[in-house]
Amino acid sequence: MSSTEQARKAAEGLHHLSGFGNEHSSEAVPGALPLGRNSPQRAPLGLYAEQLSGSAFTEPRSANRRSWLYRIRPSAAHPRFVRAENGTLAGAPFTDSVPDPNRLRWNPLPDPAPGTDFLSGLWTLGGNGDAAQRAGMAIHLYAADSPMTDRVFSDADGELLIVPERGGLLLRTEFGLLRAEPGDAALIPRGVRFRVEPLDALVRGYVCENYGRPFALPDLGPIGANGLANARDFLAPVAAYEDEDRPVEVVSKFCGNLWTATYDHSPLDVVAWHGNHVPYVYDLRRFNVLGSISYDHPDPSIFTVLTSPSDTPGLAGVDFVVFAPRWLVGEDTFRPPYFHRNVMSEYMGLIEGAYDAKAEGFVPGGGSLHNMMSAHGPDRETFEAASAAELKPQKVDNGLAIMFETRWPVTATPQALDTSRLQQGYDQVWQGLERHFRS
Ligand SMILES: [Fe+2]
Repeated sequence: MSSTEQARKAAEGLHHLSGFGNEHSSEAVPGALPLGRNSPQRAPLGLYAEQLSGSAFTEPRSANRRSWLYRIRPSAAHPRFVRAENGTLAGAPFTDSVPDPNRLRWNPLPDPAPGTDFLSGLWTLGGNGDAAQRAGMAIHLYAADSPMTDRVFSDADGELLIVPERGGLLLRTEFGLLRAEPGDAALIPRGVRFRVEPLDALVRGYVCENYGRPFALPDLGPIGANGLANARDFLAPVAAYEDEDRPVEVVSKFCGNLWTATYDHSPLDVVAWHGNHVPYVYDLRRFNVLGSISYDHPDPSIFTVLTSPSDTPGLAGVDFVVFAPRWLVGEDTFRPPYFHRNVMSEYMGLIEGAYDAKAEGFVPGGGSLHNMMSAHGPDRETFEAASAAELKPQKVDNGLAIMFETRWPVTATPQALDTSRLQQGYDQVWQGLERHFRS
């Protein structure tokens, strides 16, 4: 059986716990989870109790993230970490190039070299902030054809929002197994160890690394108690553990660099756990798209799936946004996204199909970056068509696009600026927008 077939078999019929932010609990062996306390004198079944904190101990209850893990060996049982090559993975601050005010657009990553796994296939496009200050974000792409074998990854710098574009992923985490297919988004919290196994011959996608406060569901205000991404549709794994005494490399990203230590056992040895600092997978097609039923196109914040709040109310470190299938019914309305200049910076990716503001050139696996205050909007072809369209109800259902929208400009890495995949002439899509003014 090939590694892909093995991963597919392991990914069949997974069970989940549902609800974003819930106090989840799970045990792979009955009786493994202590009741009534977190750290008994002797944890059940001879397990070690360990707390994993995703927030300061003292943060308000609404922002507090932590989980208790009951494991065969404590994570502390490891030799010294040593530096590893970062490869094509980079971290903030991004100081090797200057922020570019131009509108940039890329073609997809090429197929990976044979034997590339998820970790070695990570390729940093850019980002902002400072990982050591726990502020900002990075945009990575990945392309891989091989499983992570005898090694796991964890990111001390931030949480990882993984958005597959091609091929499915089996995520073996400390908390259990998750499956993420194109159209899903998976969220791996800061510090959680995991391994990725492709479910298809070639896998590719987008990663938002969030250095700031953990992603949360946005407040809904007058929308009410329901809508956008519903909490119950976020699925956490159930406990599943590896009891293997063989060398396993733990690669940790710490302040932008990779460090490695080899454990003498698998660190995915958590038999039971409880808490709210847990991984999730979410089916983006479950997003409850809200929009105008009278006139005008709402601001795209209406499509926010998750937001990383800052200290300023309403100002996100990064928002994760989905452009999912929806109806457009606005009367006397230019229905595609309008022309705009935005103080926030926008990176867009395409999972499948086409995006309704770009008739060409924005392809699945590719991406566009519209930095702070850059002028953008529909291309000429889209503008002309939408200006002349008959305004009957219209279903936009030919694609699934995503956006990472962030409060600070995104500095593209030197490797992103110096690649043949950076499309030359992207500005041309806005050329030929004719003068229609008549005084
Ligand atoms: Fe925009």
